[in-house]
Amino acid sequence: MIKKGIILAGGKGTRMSPLTKAVNKQLLPIYDKPLIFYPLSILMLAKIKDILIIVNKGQLNQYKKLLPNGNNLGIKITYLEQDKPRGLPDAFVVGNKFIEKENVAMILGDNFFYGQNLTSKLLNNTKLKKGARVVLHKVQKPEQFGVAKIDKKNRIINIKEKPKKYLSDLAITGLYFFDNKVVDYAKKLKPSKRGEVEIVDLLNFYKSKKQLSADIIGRGGAWLDTGSIDDFYKTSAFVSAIENRQGLKIACIEEIALNNRWINKKHIKKSIKFYGNCEYSKYLSKLI
Ligand code: DAU
Repeated sequence: MIKKGIILAGGKGTRMSPLTKAVNKQLLPIYDKPLIFYPLSILMLAKIKDILIIVNKGQLNQYKKLLPNGNNLGIKITYLEQDKPRGLPDAFVVGNKFIEKENVAMILGDNFFYGQNLTSKLLNNTKLKKGARVVLHKVQKPEQFGVAKIDKKNRIINIKEKPKKYLSDLAITGLYFFDNKVVDYAKKLKPSKRGEVEIVDLLNFYKSKKQLSADIIGRGGAWLDTGSIDDFYKTSAFVSAIENRQGLKIACIEEIALNNRWINKKHIKKSIKFYGNCEYSKYLSKLI
């Protein structure tokens, strides 16, 4: 079982400036909670309790105010800074000591997943022992993402980052599962023309060894990314529609911790005190 997870939550934030001039993107709201809660909830649903959050240099204090150490969630949160956005695989170089000899999951701080059976899919992926696994989802504009072409047996035959020429409409989402070799492979990568190390190059290492597999989220599931301001509002509207219809919250991290039996009533009460008098706290008090 994969027990460690990384949330890559740094980045330049240029696409969303001026919103991100003083605040990291992952701390901006998706409807009623900060964006970072959503990827964090995904790792927690995958029963991952040991979590490294990689943030931009200078932004650590912002995060610690919101998610100090994970005690109230029954998890362990460690922070590390990335001094500049060198690319997604840099997470494994920065997080080298955190990963130690174990396998690891990584989720990008700006990715949103929702859907029935998501938890069982996640748990299945954490069983990965060898190789790497990507999670794919059909999109209308594949040129905006990393994409994968698969064969009839769902084996990956080609992957490309933001291809100008059509290759496939299956986007590679920002959720990955890796064996421990990832650290060595990541260290070997050279920056591409745009000056970053590329996740696709890292995945190609695995592909060349026939060790890259895919899990597909079908049309009953939702994967949204929050790359632009427009996407932010669309994802917020999605969360608002579901939450207000059901009266249940998406990505309430305390609720997930409680369901996982990692925490009890006492912890929830502490969280209510921590957040203060707000709608989110009212929801937490209903849980107990
Ligand atoms: O969202 C899925 C897509 O994410 C994939 O389909 C692509 O293959 C993958 O390259 C990535 O594409 P983006 O263009 O969305 O990546 P972006 O540079 O925007 O970074 C994604 C997140 O990771 C964002 O929250 C910022 C953070 N980040 C990024 C880089 C490059 C870091 O924390 N450090 C970094 O060095």
